[in-house]
Amino acid sequence: MIGTLYFLALLSSTVAWGPVDLWSEESVRNETGGGGGDRCTCDAFLPSSTFPIGDLVAVEQTVVEISHKLEREMGKLEDYEAKMTEYAEKIVKLTIEIEKMEKDPDAYNEDDFQNTKVEIKQVEALIAELQLSINGSTTVFESVRVEVTAVVATLNRLEKTYDKNLVLVTRREYVKVQLQLEECERRHQELFNPNIGSCAHTGISKLSQPIVSQLNAHLSTSYTFGGWGKDSKPLPDRESMYWYSGATTAGISSIRFYTNYKNLILRNAFQTTSLKSGWTGTGNNFIIRGNTLYYQINRPFSVAKLNFTTMLYESRVIPKASSSISYANSPNQNFDFAADESGLWVTYATVESGGRMVIAKINEASFGLEEEWQTSVYKPGVNNAFMICGVLYATRSIDVHIEEIFYMYDTKTKQETHISIRFERFREKYSNLDYNPTDQKLYMYNDGYYLSYHLWFNHTATTTVQPPHVVT
Ligand SMILES: *[C@@H]1O[C@H](CO)[C@@H](O)[C@H](O)[C@H]1NC(C)=O
Ligand SMILES: *[C@@H]1O[C@H](CO)[C@@H](O)[C@H](O)[C@H]1NC(C)=O
Ligand SMILES: *[C@@H]1O[C@H](CO)[C@@H](O)[C@H](O)[C@H]1NC(C)=O
Ligand SMILES: *[C@@H]1O[C@H](CO)[C@@H](O)[C@H](O)[C@H]1NC(C)=O
Repeated sequence: MIGTLYFLALLSSTVAWGPVDLWSEESVRNETGGGGGDRCTCDAFLPSSTFPIGDLVAVEQTVVEISHKLEREMGKLEDYEAKMTEYAEKIVKLTIEIEKMEKDPDAYNEDDFQNTKVEIKQVEALIAELQLSINGSTTVFESVRVEVTAVVATLNRLEKTYDKNLVLVTRREYVKVQLQLEECERRHQELFNPNIGSCAHTGISKLSQPIVSQLNAHLSTSYTFGGWGKDSKPLPDRESMYWYSGATTAGISSIRFYTNYKNLILRNAFQTTSLKSGWTGTGNNFIIRGNTLYYQINRPFSVAKLNFTTMLYESRVIPKASSSISYANSPNQNFDFAADESGLWVTYATVESGGRMVIAKINEASFGLEEEWQTSVYKPGVNNAFMICGVLYATRSIDVHIEEIFYMYDTKTKQETHISIRFERFREKYSNLDYNPTDQKLYMYNDGYYLSYHLWFNHTATTTVQPPHVVT
């Protein structure tokens, strides 16, 4: 007698990337009874309840629908891209025409001017139309994200309660749509913000809804401290690599690496490195840059690095930095590392400034501090901070789900500004929030949830002719 569960396990372990409808309730029942009609129920194999096949089937249907939706959106994005190129060419043509008219107005009559004006109006109308369509896509992505979040929650629940193998096929389908969503969003983002690496903007204008990549890699709700993300200056063969480190207390003792996003979601680490005795870290505001972990250690209290290429550790004491002043809501977060378009940074509070934050630029070659900036923002009132284009952004909580970027400090001008850019998170607390200049995204470790956000920036008046950038 082959039990349903055993059959399911067998099926899921042998059928990789199998057809989605494999899991229909009928076919499972038919196969189960296959031997000769003996009655066999799941109850015999589970302590309390049957495996909720219905949940799995529902999840699969959702996954298929999401996938179709995303295919349609991808088609639209390709359309927008083509239109954008067309409009950009029109704008260039009109600009040249206007320049000619300005240089030699006498060569043109009133009709010529009128025609040019009409053409400009037409391009304007086309761009407005495009913006509307783009808004449509944004709405679709937002609703898809909600669906994807529900799917990942169900899968995690099933994986936690039952054997992980039972859910494997569905999870693989889920991974495919998650990747599809990421790809769609990346294309969407590139269309309207094709300036990765550029600092020709005056700061963040808004954040997307949070994108959930994982509820918890350890399938446990107690890994509330940690971080995840990508290397901000990856080695040439590690551009698609992701890393993750989670812990039940504010510290770091090991870190996992995944070859790519798919393996991150599938929890297939290709390497897990434990920090050697005497070098385990405290706090969770670590980052990886140049295949090197930058983090905080407590004996002696200092900034530390571990180069994964050589497996060599190094540390530096920063005498002024306080070892007790942390961010709000999370203990031990004394040093916060950040990387942006201009390099590597660390922030901390000092006792002499009454707990206000200091920004320091780290020289990557020497691991020494190049320059420091004293801000007026009080660290215990800040949840977390990150750097973009040499500007510090600090966050605080508005309520259990709403976060606000409320403060910025520009190290180039030494100017500070109070702003209000709000965004959502899923859980109340988080211990790691960082910007990654390679994809212009923010990564958050939100009490075990891996969240990321797309960013939009305020652009100064466009000086050159280029495709319209939507920065609503
Ligand atoms: C289940 O098996 C019965 C008897 O072999 C068959 O008539 C029925 O179509 C099968 N159902 C499915 C969904 O395959
Ligand atoms: C796009 O949506 C945003 C917010 O929903 C709105 O403020 C903006 O006016 C819309 N843009 C267009 C072109 O409709
Ligand atoms: C960008 O512009 C928006 C709207 O004008 C404003 O609310 C926001 O504070 C600006 N961002 C920065 C960083 O100045
Ligand atoms: C790590 O070690 C490699 C090999 O010696 C070296 O090339 C690289 O610069 C080091 N990286 C950092 C960030 O120290």
